[in-house]
Amino acid sequence: MPFLLLLFSFHSTNKKKSNSLENPWYAPKWADTLTHVKIYEPDFIKAGQKIYLAHCIVCHGEKGRGDGESGFGLSIPPGDLNDPFTLNESDGSIYWKITNGRKPMPEYITKLKDEERWQLVAFIRDIQKENLAKKENRKPKKK
Ligand code: HEC
Repeated sequence: MPFLLLLFSFHSTNKKKSNSLENPWYAPKWADTLTHVKIYEPDFIKAGQKIYLAHCIVCHGEKGRGDGESGFGLSIPPGDLNDPFTLNESDGSIYWKITNGRKPMPEYITKLKDEERWQLVAFIRDIQKENLAKKENRKPKKK
């Protein structure tokens, strides 16, 4: 009986994470070449935060952990914007995903201006900055 219980809990934890693992979301390669010069400018980040609060927090939660109230019960969970997958993504890839969406994540190509979508990328990079810094530190130093 304890063995069966163990099997069951293993199965259910697996299930929760399965979406992003089984069917990862990739932007097209060319999207990696896109970027915006203002991405680290405080005004840009601030503007992005404002848009994030209006459009994204409902699903993605305040810190991007995917714990917004509308995020629960979606067919695919919003995930964590601080997970290694997203930390390793290019600015252009994140921009492309905000632009095009993938159900149940809406597309913002018509709802937000181009610049506003880049401001969101700036804000997401800001949410990630502590983890991004850790990642930098882990890289072997160039000689
Ligand atoms: C209705 C809920 C919902 C809203 C609103 C929403 N998202 Fe999402 N978002 C999702 C879901 C669900 C996913 C995962 C989709 C998938 O993996 O197929 C996602 C994925 C993403 C990703 C991709 C993460 C990755 O690394 O693959 C980014 C970036 C993102 N959202 C940003 C935003 C931004 C910025 C906004 C606001 C403009 C926003 N989202 C609004 C539900 C939402």
